[in-house]
Amino acid sequence: MSDSRYQMYNNNAFKLGLFGANCSSGRAWNVLPERWKADWESCETMARLADEGGMDFILPIGRWKGYGGETDFQGTTFETITWATGLLACTKRIMCFGTVHAPLFNPLVAAKQMVTADHVGRGRFGLNIVVGWNEPEFQMAGIEQRNHGGRYEYAEEWISAMKKMWSETEPFDYGGDYLRLHNVVAKPKLYRDASPLIINAGQSETGRAFAMRHCHAFFTNFREADVQKSADFVARFKADAKAQEGRDVNVYTQGHVVCRPTRKEAEEYFHYLTTEGADYGALTEALRLKGITPETAPDFDKQLKELPPRNVGYPIVGSPEDVAEKFARMHGAGLSGIAFSLVNYVDELPFLIQEVLPRMQKLGLRETG
Ligand SMILES: Cc1cc2nc3c(=O)[nH]c(=O)nc-3n(C[C@H](O)[C@H](O)[C@H](O)COP(=O)(O)O)c2cc1C
Repeated sequence: MSDSRYQMYNNNAFKLGLFGANCSSGRAWNVLPERWKADWESCETMARLADEGGMDFILPIGRWKGYGGETDFQGTTFETITWATGLLACTKRIMCFGTVHAPLFNPLVAAKQMVTADHVGRGRFGLNIVVGWNEPEFQMAGIEQRNHGGRYEYAEEWISAMKKMWSETEPFDYGGDYLRLHNVVAKPKLYRDASPLIINAGQSETGRAFAMRHCHAFFTNFREADVQKSADFVARFKADAKAQEGRDVNVYTQGHVVCRPTRKEAEEYFHYLTTEGADYGALTEALRLKGITPETAPDFDKQLKELPPRNVGYPIVGSPEDVAEKFARMHGAGLSGIAFSLVNYVDELPFLIQEVLPRMQKLGLRETG
């Protein structure tokens, strides 16, 4: 997998990706007028800016139902394989992922959709596998959600069958506990390789073991308060993947960036975003989905108040120097890159590209020239 077509394997020591832009409000639970609308024109503009500005990848969220509240947070979402296909058509070098719920997509159909996306992008499509967790989304699809272990067992068969569709040149049968496929043929193959770049963000032991077996990259959360702990986790994960599966798996993280000319401006905006600007109705629903309600949790109000800065993802807030330095700390912990969200991707990306990327070059995190 040293092929340079994968921006995830280019010479940038710390890769940068945009996360969540296929969903209304991205990942910021906010009611502000500038919040992300996720309409196609904005998505296309974002992708072109990111592509031309030297970003490495675009990672959508697999989301089917919004969280209600004043804005119906993430209630307007584009399906991710078709979204990626459109973005791949209007970009030249950036990678675009589909975030695909294994239980919701028939593998024969999904394998071919991804082949189509990959041809449109001349080999730049990537797959983020999710097994799902959100019960209302499964109810909408009329599909019963399996228990946690069963979700990964199914995903194991799903990806194994698809890998065969991407590689077998003769008709084949696939017989598993969940999938029984007969006389399968699938042409064309992917644009260049026998597999797209595959990533996953399962946090359980089962999810991690799945990533070690099947994925090229794994996503985990970064702990700034204990960088050493993050570094130990990354080192252990990579060593285990090598020892148990003989595979090199890179580790990435996620976050939300607020970057302004000064640290003070950035911190003030982040405070506003996560207090006055927060969509507390949608956040209440997020807690309810986890079984946390005013009836079940005596400290419900406190939990709700503390949620906005946490739910947005790991916050990276500050001046361009601060943001570049935070990325350097992540890189120092062994992380290969970050998928991050912005309140408004189109408004905020140009400043980031102009001010943060050159600082990252000086720190040795991005290729120069
Ligand atoms: C960076 C990142 C991206 C994720 N994207 C999605 C997503 O788009 N859709 C989704 O249903 N779950 C998503 N998840 C949730 C994970 O797929 C997974 O269900 C969760 O981390 C729990 O791990 P487990 O499945 O090992 O228990 C994401 C998690 C992370 C950390």
